[in-house]
Amino acid sequence: MKVHSLSLMAIFFSLAYMQLVKGKPRHDCQSRCGNVTIDYPFGISTGCYYPGDDSFNITCEEGKPNVLRNIEVINFNHSGQLRGLLPRSTVCYDELTNNEFESLWFRLDNLSFSPNNKFTLVGCNAWALLSTFGLQNYSTGCMSLCDSPPPPNSKCNGVGCCRTEVSIPLDSHRIETQPTRFENMTSVKHFNPCSYAFFVEDGMFNFSSLEDLKNLRNVTRFPVLLDWSIGNQTCEQVVGRNICGGNSTCFDSSRGKGYNCKCLDGFDGNPYLSDGCQDINECTTRRHNCSDTSTCENTLGSFHCECPSGYELNTTTMSCTDTPKEEPKYLGWTTVLLGKLSSLVFDSFVF
Ligand SMILES: *[C@@H]1O[C@H](CO)[C@@H](O)[C@H](O)[C@H]1NC(C)=O
Ligand SMILES: *[C@@H]1O[C@H](CO)[C@@H](O)[C@H](O)[C@H]1NC(C)=O
Ligand SMILES: *[C@@H]1O[C@H](CO)[C@@H](O)[C@H](O)[C@H]1NC(C)=O
Ligand SMILES: *[C@@H]1O[C@H](CO)[C@@H](O)[C@H](O)[C@H]1NC(C)=O
Ligand SMILES: *[C@@H]1O[C@H](CO)[C@@H](O)[C@H](O)[C@H]1NC(C)=O
Ligand SMILES: *[C@@H]1O[C@H](CO)[C@@H](O)[C@H](O)[C@H]1NC(C)=O
Ligand SMILES: *[C@@H]1O[C@H](CO)[C@@H](O)[C@H](O)[C@H]1NC(C)=O
Ligand SMILES: *[C@@H]1O[C@H](CO)[C@@H](O)[C@H](O)[C@H]1NC(C)=O
Ligand SMILES: *[C@@H]1O[C@H](CO)[C@@H](O)[C@H](O)[C@H]1NC(C)=O
Ligand SMILES: *[C@@H]1O[C@H](CO)[C@@H](O)[C@H](O)[C@H]1NC(C)=O
Ligand SMILES: *[C@@H]1O[C@H](CO)[C@@H](O)[C@H](O)[C@H]1NC(C)=O
Ligand SMILES: *[C@@H]1O[C@H](CO)[C@@H](O)[C@H](O)[C@H]1NC(C)=O
Repeated sequence: MKVHSLSLMAIFFSLAYMQLVKGKPRHDCQSRCGNVTIDYPFGISTGCYYPGDDSFNITCEEGKPNVLRNIEVINFNHSGQLRGLLPRSTVCYDELTNNEFESLWFRLDNLSFSPNNKFTLVGCNAWALLSTFGLQNYSTGCMSLCDSPPPPNSKCNGVGCCRTEVSIPLDSHRIETQPTRFENMTSVKHFNPCSYAFFVEDGMFNFSSLEDLKNLRNVTRFPVLLDWSIGNQTCEQVVGRNICGGNSTCFDSSRGKGYNCKCLDGFDGNPYLSDGCQDINECTTRRHNCSDTSTCENTLGSFHCECPSGYELNTTTMSCTDTPKEEPKYLGWTTVLLGKLSSLVFDSFVF
């Protein structure tokens, strides 16, 4: 019995290994969800996303792609970033219970927050707390104090709004956000009935004290940038068995875990597929700098400007010019020849 389960284990491991080495999705994978193109390592069903990491499992419902069940995907790119929508958390003043919370907790699994997001609080006499749990626990937050409506042009600088950088440990399995109000709410509730805490990508939220203190202009979800990478090892550790395809290279993820792939310069496509990166024809896609398209010659990964014989490429103007040095030389030869000939003719005449 023991031997039996061991051999099953062995088969399982070699299968998993083969899948990881080949890193090839099925051919019939759904490539779009609504307006979003979904491609490998992300995918919509079994065999379509990178095996062994459910963080690449996209669910498509009503034309909306979601990652980790409920983070709606806006877009992502091959260099390891994904833009998604994350909901806000809320606390409202309530006469009876005093406070009414709508806190938020979620997991990011193998995705992580990029440094280009801020944890933000909107509200007066309130503070927001962010706590994460994992091998290391982490918490941070910010506080906003104001008894009356802040001036209309105020920035998110601690009066009606505050924000802070976040560096959540990679292994966190639970992230909680919680806005809280200071006890006596009577002074602010008429212009700021609720406070909100949320993550948002830099530049995607501009605080307006006139509009946001009521209900955040009805915005309930904000764009965030999440980082992703393949596995938890570096390129050096997976050399020879990374999933990067032909005409591509591996690079270590800047977040300090796993690797990503990119097409070589002059190639384009999906570097996570074995034959994803194909040569860019610079000549037909206006990416060349030859002065005349007709002289452009495509090469693998590059191009060159090919001049007709008798012409030379001027590398400053990238145009073909008459070869000024060779011509006098050639002419020189002809004159010499002609001279000889004429002298011969002359000689014969003389003779
Ligand atoms: C796709 O984009 C179009 C145009 O931007 C928009 O009208 C439509 O609602 C979008 N569809 C989905 C499913 O998001
Ligand atoms: C992908 O995630 C959804 C939602 O969590 C789940 O129902 C589905 O089974 C997952 N797909 C696979 C192939 O595991
Ligand atoms: C895509 O990749 C570039 C780096 O090549 C990065 O600057 C950009 O912010 C990325 N993210 C998204 C969501 O497009
Ligand atoms: C993190 O917080 C949880 C819950 O409060 C606690 O059980 C755990 O011991 C903490 N871990 C560390 C490393 O402090
Ligand atoms: C709450 O604030 C109001 C107005 O600032 C003040 O009149 C009231 O005494 C305060 N109540 C408590 C319990 O501090
Ligand atoms: C916020 O303001 C900046 C600078 O004025 C602008 O570039 C950016 O587009 C604005 N963002 C939003 C979401 O309105
Ligand atoms: C927010 O929603 C309310 C109720 O639906 C509506 O009256 C109000 O105009 C909306 N505000 C904005 C800024 O869209
Ligand atoms: C995260 O990636 C590791 C491999 O690096 C994998 O073993 C693990 O199952 C992944 N976690 C989830 C929740 O998918
Ligand atoms: C990578 O993830 C696997 C599975 O989760 C784990 O067993 C291994 O220790 C991790 N390796 C590193 C270098 O973190
Ligand atoms: C590399 O690019 C060339 C030119 O597009 C293509 O012919 C070749 O098949 C590519 N290699 C792989 C492994 O995809
Ligand atoms: C290239 O063209 C520029 C501008 O016409 C000219 O100044 C330069 O001398 C040329 N260079 C050569 C090597 O002919
Ligand atoms: C033309 O493009 C090539 C390749 O991109 C580059 O090396 C070269 O410097 C460019 N020359 C000029 C004059 O722009």
